[in-house]
Amino acid sequence: MRGLTTTFITAALFSPVARAALNAYAFGSAFSIGEFSPSSSLDIIKVTTTFTPGSPPTTQKGELYVWPGLMTTNDEFLYTAVQQLSPSACGGTATDWCLTAQYVGAAGLLSGSYAAIDGTVPVTLEFTQNANNTWTHTVIMKGAVISQLVQPIGRPTTFGIANECFDECATTTSSQKYTNTTIVLGTATSTFGETALASDAGTTFSTPTTSDGGKTWQIATITVPKGTSQD
Ligand SMILES: *[C@@H]1O[C@H](CO)[C@@H](O)[C@H](O)[C@H]1NC(C)=O
Ligand SMILES: *[C@@H]1O[C@H](CO)[C@@H](O)[C@H](O)[C@H]1NC(C)=O
Repeated sequence: MRGLTTTFITAALFSPVARAALNAYAFGSAFSIGEFSPSSSLDIIKVTTTFTPGSPPTTQKGELYVWPGLMTTNDEFLYTAVQQLSPSACGGTATDWCLTAQYVGAAGLLSGSYAAIDGTVPVTLEFTQNANNTWTHTVIMKGAVISQLVQPIGRPTTFGIANECFDECATTTSSQKYTNTTIVLGTATSTFGETALASDAGTTFSTPTTSDGGKTWQIATITVPKGTSQD
């Protein structure tokens, strides 16, 4: 899936991690649904998913990121950054991830509050288009909002999941699981489910289904395997 990977790497070059040295960079297993093309007419208006990152490596000498998010036709990204850096921006213990709702694109790099999280506890991610043309990205753990960002973005045409490794990081030691992913489109698109793609490094996903003619899509489970950041 060269096109997918290349696009995600382009995404990575925009990302905060691009500030780190690009030596010893690795792009891990990935999933996407939607279309990267600026000429796409797709119009995602809401995404919800329940994400269990799993435990990170017990020691980390580089930088490890796992991230799910929306990509727009004008190269903006609204995503959940789940990262393991040293030192962590979050505090917490060595086996906590550091999570923040984040945006990168023409407006720069913007972050919601940072939270140290236990990766075995699921978080609910919501990406919602507001009436005033902004988007709200909210991360909820055990019923409480732990990070949130409100930001105007372009038109999202892709929901993607990836992991990335910098500076010879210790790779993921747990699989990353996404359950009950729900994607709502502004305009029903019966072929949307066929755009789901996994990169070649072992990511699996349930067949996307729709029960309303292509406006609302459900993906029961997406699993990104452990140990793929160095693939
Ligand atoms: C747009 O709507 C969102 C959600 O209701 C709100 O948080 C945000 O402040 C609004 N922005 C403007 C510029 O009105
Ligand atoms: C799945 O997500 C949808 C949309 O957020 C929600 O309405 C539904 O209750 C969820 N189902 C389960 C089993 O969690």
